[in-house]
Amino acid sequence: MSSPARPLRITVTGASGFLGSALVLALRADGHTVVPLVRSANSPGAARWDPATGQLDEQALGAIDAVVHLAAENVVGRWTTAKKQKLRESRIGVTERLCRSLAALTPRPRVLVAASGTGFHGDCGDRLVDETSPAGNDFLGELAAAWEGATAPAAAAGLRVVNLRFGMVLDPSGAALQKMLPAFRLGLGGRLGSGRQWTPWISRRDAVAAIRFAIERDALRGPVLAVAPEAVTNRDFTRALGKALRRPTILPVPAFVLRLLFGEMASMLLTGQRAVPKQLLAAGFPFADAQLAPALQNLLRPTAGT
Ligand SMILES: NC(=O)c1ccc[n+]([C@@H]2O[C@H](COP(=O)([O-])OP(=O)(O)OC[C@H]3O[C@@H](n4cnc5c(N)ncnc54)[C@H](OP(=O)(O)O)[C@@H]3O)[C@@H](O)[C@H]2O)c1
Repeated sequence: MSSPARPLRITVTGASGFLGSALVLALRADGHTVVPLVRSANSPGAARWDPATGQLDEQALGAIDAVVHLAAENVVGRWTTAKKQKLRESRIGVTERLCRSLAALTPRPRVLVAASGTGFHGDCGDRLVDETSPAGNDFLGELAAAWEGATAPAAAAGLRVVNLRFGMVLDPSGAALQKMLPAFRLGLGGRLGSGRQWTPWISRRDAVAAIRFAIERDALRGPVLAVAPEAVTNRDFTRALGKALRRPTILPVPAFVLRLLFGEMASMLLTGQRAVPKQLLAAGFPFADAQLAPALQNLLRPTAGT
């Protein structure tokens, strides 16, 4: 997706993160101008924002064509009352304030691509899930529904809003694989609980490409599942990871151990969604990593990287 039809001026929140840092590189390589929206210490070419008030440094921002909103407290960690509050505030309050500020900009950006997650749909058992499937009524489902809802002020002001529901984003530098790799490399990896829970995933290069696609495709709006076409269970995932590393995966981790270790957050590991990227497929998005086994083989090659 190089040489865009027209170079755009794009701002990105959460630009320092796992997805944001790869996105900024990719957008710049495409010829776009990227202005990271940063919370602290000014770096050259960046603009300041205050997530607590939504205030933006409009002068540094300039006339923006597109906004990518990735900033949010990471869901990994014990969901204590304080952590839950941070998760809510950094998603719902911050997004709503940002959207109100975007709505007030002159000129207004045309498009907002905002992060969400497949957790939106809650525990779906073996049911197929697409963008029209309802929100879950567990903590993550209610959180993601309110997070997406918080983009309403931008949509009301006429921005085309795309809520990208990411599955687990895979790259060796990311938290998901980094947490699994040590045990799997020692041959101590195994399925989580029954292993029958569906585990939506997407490679980081496809996640980044999906954001670029969402910016450019005027037909995309509203919720869009950013997951690979091949849905796998945790058991399939475990086998594919063991195979990519040429290690056995015979030691399951019982559900009660995960609940002891992670408390309520274990639900994220023990339930899932058999998610189908209906909107991306319909729009002709070219997945580079449609199937898990070759994707993992590619990511875990000694010289791999995005
Ligand atoms: N990675 C995944 O597997 C995955 C899956 C589903 C959904 N998502 C969502 O996609 C987005 C990007 O994911 P990521 O993996 O790149 O996340 P990440 O590495 O944790 O980065 C998120 C960025 O958000 C900003 N941030 C962190 N805590 C914040 C807070 N309390 N308030 C405001 N901003 C805060 C930071 O950027 P600055 O310091 O630059 O402000 C941080 O670098 C997130 O919204 C995440 O929830 C990710």
